[in-house]
Amino acid sequence: MLDRQADTVSTTATERGRLLALEAEYCSHGDTVHYTEEPKIFERCEGSFIYDDEDRAFLDLQMWYSAVNFGYANPRLNEALRRQLDRLPQVASQYLHREKIELAAEIAEGALERFGRKGRVHFNVGGAQAVEDSLKLVRNACGGKSLMFAFEGGYHGRTLGASAITSSYRYRRRYGHFGERAHFIPFPYHFRGPRGMTKEEYGHQCVQQFARLFESEYNGVWDPKTGQCEYAAFYVEPIQGTGGYVIPPANFFPELKEVLDRHGILLVVDEIQMGFYRTGKLWSIEHFGVTPDVIVFGKALTNGLNPLSGIWAREELINPKVFPAGSTHSTFNANPLGTAVALEAMRMMREEDFASSVAEKGAHFLEGLKALKEKHAIVGDVDGLGLALRIEICEPHDSFTPSKRLVDLMVDEALKGDLVHGGERFGLVLDIGGYHKNVITLAPALTISKGEIDLGLALLDQLFTRVAPGAARG
Ligand SMILES: Cc1ncc(COP(=O)(O)O)c(C=O)c1O
Repeated sequence: MLDRQADTVSTTATERGRLLALEAEYCSHGDTVHYTEEPKIFERCEGSFIYDDEDRAFLDLQMWYSAVNFGYANPRLNEALRRQLDRLPQVASQYLHREKIELAAEIAEGALERFGRKGRVHFNVGGAQAVEDSLKLVRNACGGKSLMFAFEGGYHGRTLGASAITSSYRYRRRYGHFGERAHFIPFPYHFRGPRGMTKEEYGHQCVQQFARLFESEYNGVWDPKTGQCEYAAFYVEPIQGTGGYVIPPANFFPELKEVLDRHGILLVVDEIQMGFYRTGKLWSIEHFGVTPDVIVFGKALTNGLNPLSGIWAREELINPKVFPAGSTHSTFNANPLGTAVALEAMRMMREEDFASSVAEKGAHFLEGLKALKEKHAIVGDVDGLGLALRIEICEPHDSFTPSKRLVDLMVDEALKGDLVHGGERFGLVLDIGGYHKNVITLAPALTISKGEIDLGLALLDQLFTRVAPGAARG
């Protein structure tokens, strides 16, 4: 028996070696990130777990960057895909199909209920493509103005247009400029903000700093004689995603919106990562009581099955007279497999009380993270809204100096799959974010159980001890 197991492991290792050699020779590294020396190959997935070629279970705490909010192999959503596959899996996007129409209606009626505004929905495939579409929509609505505000630490994708409004120069460095880059404004990242201020005071200060731009024509963006701003829109993530799951104080967006309204600047809310109940609400901007002009969405809309993204915009900006047929188009934009799953997902979100369950599970997870912070000096900060949670990893001597070194080590160790709990071996799938790439951004399945959250906390505890054995507090 042991011989047979050893044979299986060595056959698997040979096959893995073959695949990695092919990858090294034929796959571009440009379309991925290659964080680890030897990329991990996974074989199957279910619920909160993904399994490698030796059938080792990895608890996934990032769920494909928050694209799989409803758990791997969600039976209801997979079944919707199968049904569509048997009925109408293909149809060109110039024709109509039931699912596209019903999905647009579901999202637009939901926005009317939430924000009191009539609007329409427009589809594409990937997140960055929907961001591109929104840029066209905004430029068109603002008489061709092409300048945008966005946040330091913001991320909107890596196409040329989307990376121009994404703050990291790293994503633009090699490729030259295609359009004007955004004017980047500080986001209230309190943990690394000025000392001695409350979160609310810092939020207020960030808005005041922005408002200063409109004091006179000499501040560079505003013509008081015509009441015109040179900038068309402000692109925001209500909770920064790639920036490290940074949660602003409650006063920040209402105060910011006041400045935008006073100066005729549109508010474009990027919900690609935080939408679809990641934070306990359909749209994360709902936590802040402000009304967007445009919402951009993607990722979890189809639970990571056939890709679909899109934008909702208020009627004045998107009605067919101002934004006519063919303003944007992509062959696969409202693909019937994607719209069928998305429609089922939206119905599921209406029928099931994710608002309560996500808030409850998030509170339980955050409580456990706070206990880990008490125990490990490498944990500088923890925070969370719903099931969007952050652990900021720091050097243990001051629990503040960002430690990319330790986070990189953690990700590698977690992927070895040899953490032990209840006599079984597990791995962890983690994602890194943050301004200093030292934040573990946790986006577990919204369907995760309390037992699985406790397992995650126990595995994180072991991992922290493993990478910094002498850094337990007390
Ligand atoms: C907030 C946000 N906007 C845009 C994008 C880009 O989406 P995609 O990777 O589907 O192009 C992402 C992806 O992580 C994101 O988190």
